[in-house]
Amino acid sequence: MVRAAQIFYLASSQFDVTLIMDYPFQVKTLGEYEAAYARAQADPEAFWADIAQHFTWKKPWDTVLDWEFTTPMVRWFDGAQLNITENCLDRHVTLYPARTALLWEPNDPTEASVEWSYQSLLERVEAFCHVLQARGIQKGDRVCIYMGMVPELAVAVLACARMGAIHSVIFGGFSAESIVDRVQDAQATAIITCDGAFRGAKSIPLKPIVDVALTQCASVHTVVVLQRTHEKVHIQAGRDIWWHEALPTHGKPFPAVAMEAEDPLFVLYTSGSTGKPKGVVHSCAGYMVWSTYTFVNVFQSSPGDVHFCTADIGWITGHSYIVYGPLAAGATTLLFEGVPNYPAPDRLWQITEKHQVQILYTAPTAIRALMACGVQYPDAYPMASLKVLGTVGEPINEEAWQWYHRHVGKEKSPIVDTWWQTETGGILISNLAGVTPAKPTFATLPLPGIQPVLVDEYGHELVGNDVSGNLCIRFPWPGMIRTTYGDHERCRQAYFSTYPGYYFTGDGCTRDAEGRYRITGRVDDVLNVSGHRIGTAEVENAINMHPKVVESAIVGYPHPIKGQGIYAYVILSSSCATALEEEALRAEILQEVSRHIGALAKPEKIQFVSGLPKTRSGKIMRRILRKIAEGAQDQLGDTTTLLDPTVVESILAGCL
Ligand code: PRX
Repeated sequence: MVRAAQIFYLASSQFDVTLIMDYPFQVKTLGEYEAAYARAQADPEAFWADIAQHFTWKKPWDTVLDWEFTTPMVRWFDGAQLNITENCLDRHVTLYPARTALLWEPNDPTEASVEWSYQSLLERVEAFCHVLQARGIQKGDRVCIYMGMVPELAVAVLACARMGAIHSVIFGGFSAESIVDRVQDAQATAIITCDGAFRGAKSIPLKPIVDVALTQCASVHTVVVLQRTHEKVHIQAGRDIWWHEALPTHGKPFPAVAMEAEDPLFVLYTSGSTGKPKGVVHSCAGYMVWSTYTFVNVFQSSPGDVHFCTADIGWITGHSYIVYGPLAAGATTLLFEGVPNYPAPDRLWQITEKHQVQILYTAPTAIRALMACGVQYPDAYPMASLKVLGTVGEPINEEAWQWYHRHVGKEKSPIVDTWWQTETGGILISNLAGVTPAKPTFATLPLPGIQPVLVDEYGHELVGNDVSGNLCIRFPWPGMIRTTYGDHERCRQAYFSTYPGYYFTGDGCTRDAEGRYRITGRVDDVLNVSGHRIGTAEVENAINMHPKVVESAIVGYPHPIKGQGIYAYVILSSSCATALEEEALRAEILQEVSRHIGALAKPEKIQFVSGLPKTRSGKIMRRILRKIAEGAQDQLGDTTTLLDPTVVESILAGCL
């Protein structure tokens, strides 16, 4: 039921929408949540049509949903046309052009912050569309974005969306080789980058890394370079242009291109258990509805709230909850260039105070790292503006949850533990702030429209409560992955083949006696280090590139700050003569990983071993390696099926 005072979008006809005060699709009580959940399950098409009508469409849809999970094929709002930036920008500009859309806090607190109204952000996006158009970028072209966390990153993303170019943001910590993989896979024609980026005490070169990558990226004809660090960089005539020089002076608008509902909006590469990272493809309409619906409901945001998500736009969290969700909802989104502990461990609390933040959304790793610095930092800030705290990216331990609740939220702000993935486009399981109950370490309940299922290893559904299994989803939701770029079969294989008929998340999960969900971590060969997703195969491949390495095996082990650390078991072609030589080789291996992937994938521990525990069919038994890395030597289980059980003894003897 919609109360008059809560009407934010008032539909004067189904597709002619005016924004008024509040969100009609925000559930505000437990009863409303239960009713929404029941309706989304009983009549998903009517439920989502009702929500979708509160957005701006260029053409209405013919069908709400068409799907099957075998191919898989999922289509939402088919026949409709829209542009997500009209929803994120134009419709707000019509009603309140001066409302702040974006706040930017620089790495260095003595530098001025930036505040752009919706009007100003729209103008900047339109101007940048002209820049891209002048370089021949058209609807459907792929554009890679490799920048630091500057406000122009949001402009670049939105400009691509406005002109129908498919953006693929590459996290600024990735190596040249990782850029090559992504650019080649997407066949991108342009890259948008910066001279460099500031992150904490470091100034990181970006353009020089792009230059290295571009020696292997023939598809790229344009590089737009934003000046940030003012380091001298190479500009290749004909290919590279400076952002500030290319901007037009005419101030002409750029009409948003009409996109089909199922046209791709962006590709975001993410690691899986095998092979190179996959390009997860999200579509225009479904993603827009899902990122906005979840933003408004999980965080219980009100129009104009300041939302501070500390993620990088290089990850899905930044896409959905820095750029698209908050802007589509008319909130004020805060972008932070730096890191939580620079120049001091009070930086996040100081920003919260300075910008009067209502919603703070961060990762358990950041909380644990700041917790280790002491309570004096958060305790020095009242942070009275805060209404909601959120966590994302990895399981949160009880101690970190309590610390966050007490010292940051001052025991008054609900914490939402939001479980989701790059592939899900937005939050799937989470409590709704102050609406549905929180339970520390539990993501708790599925959002309306999400039908989670736990299965055992044979794919049998585990019914009832108090069960643990592998987490699957049995029904489509608007924000779900549509395909993996250029290779639909890979999408089927990775997500829809393990348990036929279900989308398989790769996560293990418990459902407690009250039906609340607790995510226990990945059950596949994907690691989660500081909330960053890293494939074991990728790290192994990088290590194996070292000329002295014969073979390697990577596992995760519990790490007090990062959640998981990376433990590498490495077989050398010839053993090192001295401890010094071993140390030098370890450093070279780490460099190898940085070169091929990025510093974020560097192992904490490298143990040189003479052999790896393998089954008779040659498969590495990671279970054993994991137990050794965890220090659980007494729980190795049955090792008799190994090709050579004595290998385990020798690994145990040298474990770190
Ligand atoms: O294992 C889950 C973990 O992060 C994985 C998804 O990683 P990525 O695609 O990089 O997206 C991260 C941001 C959405 C999941 O498969 N994960 C994410 N959120 C949580 C979580 N694990 C436990 N609790 C969470 N709240």
